Formats: sequence, C-alpha cells, structure tokens
Amino acid sequence: MTRTDSPDRQFLADYRPYPFILEQTRLEFTLAPDATRVRADLTFRPRNGSEDLLLDGGKNLHLISLTIDGREPAADQVTRDDERLVIAAAALPDGQFTLATEVEINPSANTAFEGLYISNGMFCTQCEAEGFRHITFYPDRPDVMAPFQVTIHSDQPVLLSNGNPVRQEEGLAEWHDPWPKPAYLFALVAGDLVAIEDRFTTASGRDVALNVWVRPGDEDRAGFAMESLIKSMKWDEDVYRREYDLDVFNIVAVDDFNMGAMENKGLNIFNSKLVLASPETATDADYERIESVIAHEYFHNWTGNRITCRDWFQLCLKEGLTVFRDQQFTSDMRSASVKRIGDVQALRARQFREDQGPLAHPVRPEEYEEINNFYTATVYEKGAEVIGMLKRLVGDDGYARALDLYFKRHDGEAATIEDWLKVFEDATGRDLTQFKRWYTDAGTPRLTMRETWENGRLTLHFTQHTPPTPGQNDKPPRVIPIAVGLIGPNGDEIEPTRMLEMSEAKQEFSFDGLGARPVVSALRGFSAPVILERNIDDATRAFLLAHDTDPFARWEAGRELALHALTALSQGQEGGADYIGAIGQLATDEDADPAFRALCLNLPGEEEIATRLYAAGAIPDPDAIHDARNRLARRMAETHANLLSAIYDQMVVPGPYSPDADSAARRALRISALGLLTRIDGGERAEVLFGITSNMTERMAALICLVRRGRGGVALSALHDQFKDNRLVMDKWFTVQPMAAPPADAIAIARQLSERRDFDWKNPNRFRALLGGLAANHAGFHAADGKGYDFLAEWLMKMDPINPQIAARMSTAFETWPRYDENRRKRALAALERMAAMKGISRNLREMVTRMIA
Ligand code: ARG
Ligand code: ZN
Repeated sequence: MTRTDSPDRQFLADYRPYPFILEQTRLEFTLAPDATRVRADLTFRPRNGSEDLLLDGGKNLHLISLTIDGREPAADQVTRDDERLVIAAAALPDGQFTLATEVEINPSANTAFEGLYISNGMFCTQCEAEGFRHITFYPDRPDVMAPFQVTIHSDQPVLLSNGNPVRQEEGLAEWHDPWPKPAYLFALVAGDLVAIEDRFTTASGRDVALNVWVRPGDEDRAGFAMESLIKSMKWDEDVYRREYDLDVFNIVAVDDFNMGAMENKGLNIFNSKLVLASPETATDADYERIESVIAHEYFHNWTGNRITCRDWFQLCLKEGLTVFRDQQFTSDMRSASVKRIGDVQALRARQFREDQGPLAHPVRPEEYEEINNFYTATVYEKGAEVIGMLKRLVGDDGYARALDLYFKRHDGEAATIEDWLKVFEDATGRDLTQFKRWYTDAGTPRLTMRETWENGRLTLHFTQHTPPTPGQNDKPPRVIPIAVGLIGPNGDEIEPTRMLEMSEAKQEFSFDGLGARPVVSALRGFSAPVILERNIDDATRAFLLAHDTDPFARWEAGRELALHALTALSQGQEGGADYIGAIGQLATDEDADPAFRALCLNLPGEEEIATRLYAAGAIPDPDAIHDARNRLARRMAETHANLLSAIYDQMVVPGPYSPDADSAARRALRISALGLLTRIDGGERAEVLFGITSNMTERMAALICLVRRGRGGVALSALHDQFKDNRLVMDKWFTVQPMAAPPADAIAIARQLSERRDFDWKNPNRFRALLGGLAANHAGFHAADGKGYDFLAEWLMKMDPINPQIAARMSTAFETWPRYDENRRKRALAALERMAAMKGISRNLREMVTRMIA
C-alpha cells in the first residue's frame, strides 16, 4: 500500500521505543454508572535524555487533576488534543517520578463496549487493542509493561481485577498483579455474580483457585467451561511445559461483548455464548467452540501475556501461535483428522475469501488506520497455518527446541516476528529468510502440479504463482512444504507421506523404481495454505476418495468431486454422477469415523462454490449456484434414499445427551443424512425430530431443514415460547430464519425480524445474529435487486455511531463484491459509497469501506 496522507495511518517502519520505562502502575477506581473516578499513579523513569511524556487518552476522559511528584505543572506545560495528553520535558524531573492523574468517565454512556462499560448492570472492561486509553491517560501500547496494583471501591458484591487478591472487604477490593503487563491486558469486573469453583494443582505444586463467574441462575450452564479450563491447564503443562503463574484464575461471562473472549491476565472475560452451555440450549458445535476458546484464552497466558507483542503489527505473534496451540489441543481432545478438515474448511471460507478481495493483507500487516480492523482470518488462521508449516519444515523436535528457546529468551518481553523466526533459526540452524515471506506477503499462492511418467520414474512438476493483492504486485516464490504420498493401482499405499520442499517458482521432484504408475496423493494434511491446481479426472478423484490413507486428502478428493459437479451444474452443464456414486460407498463404510462420513456427505456451501468459480476466472451467479446445489442434493437423496434413511435410524445416540466427540460424531452423521432426506420427504422426519428431541443440536438441525423448506412456522414459535428469556437461544432463533430461508424471502424476513421489540440491536450478539444470518444466505444477501446490500448498509450506518467495531466487522460481508456481475457490483458499490459519505463515520468503518471501494 502507498502512504496516503491520512493522519491516522500507522506504519510498522515508524516504530520507536517508548522513551520512558514504566516501573509501576497503581489504579484506584470509585465506581458509579454515570461518573466513575479513576486515579492513576504511574511511576516512570526516563530511558535516556529528556523527552516529552506522551499519554494516550480519548475525549471521554474528564481530567480532574494532574500532578508530578505531588506538584501541579504549569498550565502551558500540559497540552491536550482529542487523542492524547503531552507533558513537556521541562516539567519532568531528571530521574524517577510519579505522575498522578484523576479522571472521571461515564461507563453507562459507553455503547462501544471498549474501555469500561456496563453490561446488564455489571461493570466490565475490554481493553485490547486500545481500550485502556478510554479509562485513563496512559502509554497505551503493548511494549510498555508494568506490574499493576488496583483498588476498587464499589457496592457491587463481586469486585475483580488481574493478579492475586490482596484485600477483600465490604465495598472494597485490592488486587495485585506481579507480572509486568501492557495495559491491553488490564481488566476489571464488578457485579452481582456467582462462581462455580474448582482447583488445579500445577506440576510444581502451586494450588490455583479456579472460578467461572456468571449471573445468578446461570450456574448450571457453566460446568463445561470449567472442565475445559482444567483440561487446557493440564494440556499446556504436558505438551508445552507451561505452568500457570498466579494463585487464582477467573473467567467471567458477559452478555455484551464485541468479540469472542479476552485473555486479560488472570481474569479472562468471555462473551457469554462461549461459556454457557447445557444440552437443551447449546449445540455440539457450541460445546466444541467453548472448549477451544477457553483453551485459546488460557494458552495466551504464555503466548501473549508472559511474552507479548512489541506493537500491534506483531499481532499474529500471539494470535497465530495461540490459534495453532488451540488447534493442537482440540486435535488431542477430539478427532485430529476431523479437526484438520474443519480448520481447512474455515480457512478457505474466511481467509481465502479475504485474500481474494480488496481487504487482502499480509499475516503481519505493515500499515493500518484502525488496528481493530486487523483481527482477521489472515492474522489468526493463516497466522496459525504459517506456524504449522514451520513445524513441518523443522520437524517436531526442532519445533519443540525452538519453542523452549522462545519461552526462555523472551519471557517478560514484548517481541516481534523477527524474534520468533530467530529462535527457530538458532534452535535448528535453518535460514528462514525466504520463509519470512509468508509473514510479509499477502495472497494465496496457486500451486500447479503436473505429472510425467517414464520407465518407472514419476516426476512431479510444480509451479507457484501468487496473484497481486492491494499494494503488492510482485510476489517472489515462497517456501512451500508439499506432503505427497503414492498409491498403487490396487489401492495400496506404495510411498508413505514425504515432505517435498519447494522454494523456486518452478521445481520438480522424482520418484524412481516404481513398478506401475501410481496415483499421487498431494498436499496431504493440507501441508500449506495454497490453492492446488492439478489436472485430474473424476475417476481418479473417486479412486482417492476410496483409497487415500491420509484423511484430509481423502476428504479433499470428495470435496473436489463435489465442487467439480457443482460448478458444472451452476454453469448449465451436466455433472455429479461420479460424486454421487462415490459418496454412496463412503457413507456406508462402517470403518470410517461417522464424523468423517458426515463431512463427506455435506455439500460445499454456496459461498465456497462462488469462491471456487471466481478463482477459476468465472463470474459466479448466486441464483444458479443455489439452484445447482439444491439439484445435486436432491439427486443424492433420491439415489441413496434407502441408505440415508438407514444411517438416520442407526445413528441415534442412546441415553442422555453428552457432548463428547463420539456422540457428537454420530449426531453429525445423522444430521447430514437428515439434511438430504428432507429434500425428498417433505420435511416429515425433521418435524418429528424437532418434536421429540430435547437436545439443541438435533433441534437446530431439524429447524434449519424446516425453515429451508418454508415450513418453520410451528417449530419457530415453539422454540420462541420455550426460550424467549434465554438470550443465547434467541440469538439462534434470529440467525436461523434469514440464514436458512429461501433466498427470495430472506430480506423480507430479516426486515420483519429487525422490527421486533426483542431485536435488541445494540447487543453485539443479537446484531450479528440477524445481519450475519442474512449475510450467510448467499443468494439472499446477493439478491440481484441490491436489496440485501441496502438493508445491511442501512444497519451498519445505524450501528456505526453506537459501536464502530461491530459496524466495521460486519461490513466485511461486502468484501466479495468485485467478483459478481456488473449489476450486482454497481449496487454493492453504491451501498459502500453511501456509507463512505456518511457524516461522522468512524475511523473503523471508514477504513473498511475505503479499502473495499479502492
Ligand atoms: N485477544 C483476543 C483473542 O483472544 C481478541 C480480542 C480482540 N478485541 C478487539 N477489540 N479487537 O483473540
Ligand atoms: Zn487470541
């Protein structure tokens, strides 16, 4: 990207260390909903020489008093603008000094949920990335770390902050966090909460009190979160030798939360949907997600907190690594192959899509206007893929040595991607100069594979090429680990997985001494986040689907078959016979994991088909795609009616609901069969299931089937009557209707729902439920008349002044606009331009729409 003259633009190249060392942070809060007092005593020492002291602090801070070592500086030595406070060097003593400020803030006016705010009568905070500056004047940057001492005065019954409790009495609490941390890891909670409690003893014998805090009445839905926490603590000790380092670990569930969860030191704050679960209210997918996010936030204690980021450009240092770690954890807790396939699906759906459009950016961006816009699939999920590749290249031992060195060398520091790569170089002796391009260069490489066969020698010819992304036209070749295996004509594996290491634009690899020409299983385990293009016919794909020993490659073969059929059908050609035949065999393969069979039965989504068509140079037609997918599903159901119905009956899980992986796998297969059967049974099975089952997994699945057929009415009102007071279930209720509705009805349904009194749109979960549900209806949202675009734009403009983070995040529904036909493009662009022209648009949304229009 080029330097524009936007005053807000930040550049990696401009990094400068903070000129002061912050030795100690003391905070004293006197909480009141409209007028909270915050006193901050900050002890600084100049790093070298004399410089002005810059403190971040927004317009919302009402400054009451300011002293340096107890004395007020002269009026002309303190200046303030909308974003910061500057104290002239001349006003500062030579050595150590303490700056004391008192400010007043108004948590109840804070609708952006950034800084200190009130959710359901309880005080809570969200400070990452730059929320702390809305609480008090402070060097709000991750490389300024200090121990915190926090005093809270409040009549709320439970008063929490980071670290260990040092004093708790009526109306007062004092917390001390000995581990130096940046302000973004600060947290405070004050409210009427109850805890479910447990304990954990660390490997070196520290006894840790664990609490999951929820509102009274929600206790019986917090047990699974606690179990997940204990498993995470144990796993991090076993696998990474990382122990917890405080006497307490608190988790709090809040209803109003912009993101999923936050790793504040010793006091993780969670969106309540990622804590609360019961069989009646949460699906198998919810349980799995709770387990993985609890793990993710806990793992941040070492990868994020003990070692943090030097600046926000390094966000992937903590997020990519922590996602990688939570993926490893889930693989160990559940089926590793199913987890891998799910992660690849998510990566393609969100990250490949991002890379394909105007919002593409490197895993480590070099510039931004609003850092909150960079909590993306690229930074998180591709960031994790890059670490997976690194591990594949240096091997498990090399990876373990590098991580040990990382923790040893950088504990207590704010590190960079250069530091991270250096520990791998030092621990393994490998030069990672070229590998680093995975961090600096945006875009998804296209890898093509061609085969030649001669005298028992098979040669694989690879080329790589990465299309241009905004601001980056030339993409030099990258290091690509390509896992390959060979399968003989009889279906036996003749060459187990071998890691080919590609580093040139064009490169070939040979296998010698082969008797007969084998079938190549390529990119096993999805060994690199690339798009593999190979000339391969449907019969060979079906062969791989039947015989590949690598579960990912096997699934991928089926996926390719399905996509090939669907893209053909959506372009008015014939297709699907090979896929339908092969799927019949696999579905009945009793040796295969039911979860795996379920994955193979599920057709790719419409969005994925569109992405595929666009990558292949075609203009996707949402209606034709919707149609093609319906037709193929119907043919699958007709062809395999008996088989599917047998699966549906066999996969009943006996006994009371349990969220474990095996039971969930059986339910997943059963639900996949139900989805297909609903295409031909008029919805009869779904209606019966909805009526008799008590777990939310099956109820939701049945409901989706019914809504899709336009028969959701009775079930929807039943669910509403039963759960109208349960926010999380009602969020599902709001999502499913626009999401699963026939595309032609989706916008009208969304509009009607948006007019309901219980569409509490200022709650981020509720807003995302409805608008995200609509955006997930591919043909509905991309309606040719542009009504989907208008509806979303209207709501984003309404949300932006209230909560810019949410508006900006939801605006990514527009990121695919360039790939559609001219009519749709024109209408989407008009909606984007309307937003761009909005008076008082936030920096968050402005940056997003500007990048999308450019
Ligand atoms: N660090 C959190 C995580 O675990 C995400 C917080 C992001 N918050 C934000 N406002 N951007 O991934
Ligand atoms: Zn994270």
